[in-house]
Amino acid sequence: MNDIRSSFGYDIFIEDPIASLDTWLEAQQYSKVAILGDTHTLEVCLPYLNLYSKHSSHYDLIEIDPGEDNKNIDICIGVWSMMQEFGLDRKSLLINLGGGVITDMGGFAASTYMRGIDFINIPTTLLAMVDASIGGKTGLDLQNYKNHLGTFHHPKAIFIIPEFLSTLHELEIKSGFAEVIKHGLIADHLHLRDAISFLENGEIGLDVLIPQSVKIKLAIVEKDPFEKDIRKALNFGHTVGHAIESYYLNKGKLIMHGSAIACGIMVESFLSVSKCKMPETDLKYILEIIPNYLEPAKLNEEMILDLIELMRKDKKNESSEIKFSLLSTIASPILNIGCTEEEISEALVKCIHYFKI
Ligand SMILES: NC(=O)c1ccc[n+]([C@@H]2O[C@H](COP(=O)([O-])OP(=O)(O)OC[C@H]3O[C@@H](n4cnc5c(N)ncnc54)[C@H](O)[C@@H]3O)[C@@H](O)[C@H]2O)c1
Ligand SMILES: [Zn+2]
Repeated sequence: MNDIRSSFGYDIFIEDPIASLDTWLEAQQYSKVAILGDTHTLEVCLPYLNLYSKHSSHYDLIEIDPGEDNKNIDICIGVWSMMQEFGLDRKSLLINLGGGVITDMGGFAASTYMRGIDFINIPTTLLAMVDASIGGKTGLDLQNYKNHLGTFHHPKAIFIIPEFLSTLHELEIKSGFAEVIKHGLIADHLHLRDAISFLENGEIGLDVLIPQSVKIKLAIVEKDPFEKDIRKALNFGHTVGHAIESYYLNKGKLIMHGSAIACGIMVESFLSVSKCKMPETDLKYILEIIPNYLEPAKLNEEMILDLIELMRKDKKNESSEIKFSLLSTIASPILNIGCTEEEISEALVKCIHYFKI
């Protein structure tokens, strides 16, 4: 494993991240440092840093409750207020220690506080290690619509500490694998094969898979930082997936991001066949691996109208059409495919029937 330098000018430390964090902080001389985490990450991950870091005693802590239902402006106001109370100024640093909810929320809070202060990400879930902490998208949900508030703002560094995964629930690991598999499906047969090999028999380790996945995401966002073009490929599974997440948020029931995305990948694979002529063999393969290795959210007929209504408000749409990033084959994404409600409904029904078999 080697550290990875991004073309945005920051490093992703993966080789010896805890020592690198110490050295990095020492070199920066920030006026103040605060750590944002949720109840779980501050309990199980922060002590791990304390064990090694001589800087830890100088940090102020900002704690929020865990879960997607906290990724909103009300909680963010609390975070900004704490930053103000602790006296963070424009030369201060916010450390985001957590999963994607924390890196999205902390990135947003830092990028808007005093017109933008520095932040770093220390992802603690697999999903945040391979995806959410990378790429400069920050976000909050608005009225349960996913990431309707957000900025593009890169962290100053990312420190990936795979040891954190030892306390993460098995279902959260599976959730992270939805994005790992998505990276394989949109960009890289080899990565897909390695991911399956890890899930099947552990022959390939996370020490190999995590950097592979990070590099795929980084290479795509480096080509298209503001999502005008190829970065949209990363949204495969997400038009449907985000609608599923919003649907459950509206019902007051939390589901994992990766679980929604796994189901979204299945539905959007049906659409890839009907709209982009993806071979049936690719569909069959995707429909085999997703329920086998991941925990896709379940769908039923009663959800269809609500899901389509939620997709209509998806921020990826540029007009009244509902836009998708689909596949023409595995590892060949096609962007900006407009689909009618009938086509989407048909794909949802096919997926519902597939679950019933
Ligand atoms: N900005 C992006 O590019 C991007 C990309 C993908 C996903 N996301 C966002 O990421 C979010 C999902 O992230 P997530 O799946 O990491 O969820 P999360 O942050 O809610 O974390 C999942 C759960 O695991 C707990 N946890 C975290 N680390 C732990 C650890 N090491 N040990 C024990 N428990 C731990 C958390 O407290 C939480 O309860 C969604 O809001 C999604 O929209 C953003
Ligand atoms: Zn995602």
